[in-house]
Amino acid sequence: MKWALVSGAGSGIGKALSEVLAQNGFSLVITARNLKRLEDLASELEEKYGVKVIPFSFDLADHANADLLYERVKKLEIRIDILVNNAGIGDYGYFVDSDIDKLSRLIEINIQSLIRLTYHFLKDMRQNNFGRIVNVASIGAFFAGPLMSVYYASKAFVLSFSEGLAQELEGTDIKVTCLCPGPTNTDFFTKANAKAAKFNMSEPLFVAKKGYQAMKKGKRIEVVGVLNKVIVFSARLLPRRLLTKAVYLVQGHLKERV
Ligand SMILES: NC(=O)c1ccc[n+]([C@@H]2O[C@H](COP(=O)([O-])OP(=O)(O)OC[C@H]3O[C@@H](n4cnc5c(N)ncnc54)[C@H](OP(=O)(O)O)[C@@H]3O)[C@@H](O)[C@H]2O)c1
Repeated sequence: MKWALVSGAGSGIGKALSEVLAQNGFSLVITARNLKRLEDLASELEEKYGVKVIPFSFDLADHANADLLYERVKKLEIRIDILVNNAGIGDYGYFVDSDIDKLSRLIEINIQSLIRLTYHFLKDMRQNNFGRIVNVASIGAFFAGPLMSVYYASKAFVLSFSEGLAQELEGTDIKVTCLCPGPTNTDFFTKANAKAAKFNMSEPLFVAKKGYQAMKKGKRIEVVGVLNKVIVFSARLLPRRLLTKAVYLVQGHLKERV
């Protein structure tokens, strides 16, 4: 049996990634906080695709729980071939007016827990001489994001870490893919206190399929969607100060619609 682990699997992109992996014959360990949602998804995927799906509830806002999650998976005596670090949260607003504890939780989930899960499972992958790691960042990883500065910076971290790690692993059969979606139709914006734009919005299943294909090809970076590719490319050409101002205007514009 081939196994994958998906964090943040309860909704949105993580749920869609779980579905695509199950569709492709992978049994799954799915994790998030809301156990009921995970159990419902597990039953649905098991019935639909005939794979095994194990739901685990862990709060990754404390990176010690990432270690506990790994230990729990070890007890199953299964081999995780694919690790999908998808769990993540955002927070909209001026940094100085933010809830600093929420920002610390953001850093724990988006960065610390991702790092620890990667560290633990990569050691096993090295022993098996095989593995695939998919880290979900964002197109926001390519530029600064005023009004969501900590979130964008966390995604820049994920992109930089993923690329560095992919290079360290070159020549092995362990590949790292950094999935960079643009705005996607999930609960993310509501939870981040931001209003989602209606324009340039992808569906989670589309993002998940692109992510899966990129992982299969061993691609290091997958920016999802043509317009997002154009945005990321254009960002390289603009002076950074101008780019940051442009992102600020777009982000502020989103807020006005709340
Ligand atoms: N939506 C977008 O526009 C967009 C664009 C680019 C990148 N992304 C990235 O895509 C990833 C998935 O986000 P999404 O859009 O699918 O949002 P989502 O629907 O809110 O999904 C987030 C997932 O993370 C889990 N999660 C949240 N806090 C957690 C915690 N403390 N511990 C463990 N799990 C936690 C949630 O489940 P529980 O609440 O049950 O824990 C949920 O399953 C994130 O990394 C996000 O940054 C999203």
